[in-house]
Amino acid sequence: MSGGESTGVWQYAGLRRSYVFIIFPANWLARTSIFAAGLLRNGRLRHRTKALPARIGPKNIAHQGIHAVDLFKKLPMVLQAKDIYKSFGQLPILKGVNVEVSRGEVVSIVGKSGAGKSTLLHILGTLDNADQGQITINNTAVRNLSPRPLAAFRNRHIGFVFQFHHLLPEFSALENVCIPGFIRKQEEAAVKQRATELLDFLGLSHRLQHKPTELSGGEQQRVAVARALVNQPDIIFADEPTGNLDSAASQDLHRLIRRLSDEYRQTFVIVTHNKELADLSDRCLEMRDGLLV
Ligand SMILES: Nc1ncnc2c1ncn2[C@@H]1O[C@H](COP(=O)(O)OP(=O)(O)O)[C@@H](O)[C@H]1O
Ligand SMILES: [Mg+2]
Repeated sequence: MSGGESTGVWQYAGLRRSYVFIIFPANWLARTSIFAAGLLRNGRLRHRTKALPARIGPKNIAHQGIHAVDLFKKLPMVLQAKDIYKSFGQLPILKGVNVEVSRGEVVSIVGKSGAGKSTLLHILGTLDNADQGQITINNTAVRNLSPRPLAAFRNRHIGFVFQFHHLLPEFSALENVCIPGFIRKQEEAAVKQRATELLDFLGLSHRLQHKPTELSGGEQQRVAVARALVNQPDIIFADEPTGNLDSAASQDLHRLIRRLSDEYRQTFVIVTHNKELADLSDRCLEMRDGLLV
């Protein structure tokens, strides 16, 4: 950001709980400046958009609000879930959940045990069906997909990390990470290269040939994160990813998630009991009485 740009920053608080919306006049004096928009988190600019095509003069912006909302809408939405209902037998679990997640966001979901967090995560991740409601991931209405295209869509666009790593014991760390890429029928050398890079990023370059049983809990979980990342998914759903880790390994994983979001704009929705992980996210939602609040 050059000096001139910061002079006309509007903070549009309250649009999203933990977000502030800001608008930069690219050239403050020129009424026909192109503006860019971004999101501010903890005093740092994140997700700056390219210069927006809208030509808005300072006067318009002075009456802001409506423009801020319009510009905000231009930020790419990765996940939109609307009116999600789910019951098990007579027991209603989800009672009209609405949630939207934009690219690069880390959203955490907290709530009591049995509140329906895992149920929601499975439904958002297309592993289970809602009784009612719509889910759009990357502009695709996933409900309309039949089983085979849905499986392909999931492989291509969605990553999962669970509390237990679910790595295949007979394969090495590198092979485990490669598997989703092979299922996607990507070229073997390219998949291996990406898997190696990811394991390196996650601090596991010295563990490529280790089998899961030869790795610590934290290392296993980082392999699981690499596996979730290998097809460059639009969104990763993680269900209590640090639930089985000690505090040092949990902290490592938190830092990595934050870096993946900051450096690669990787989007995460994370169910967690871990306060630190929830605090480190961009937005924390609570599952209560079948709704997200
Ligand atoms: N497949 C299922 N069949 C019946 N009840 C289920 C099923 N899955 C979850 N439940 C019930 O739904 C409620 C919410 O479960 P869950 O989503 O796992 O909660 P959380 O992840 O918040 O602890 C619980 O009461 C649980 O017993
Ligand atoms: Mg759960």
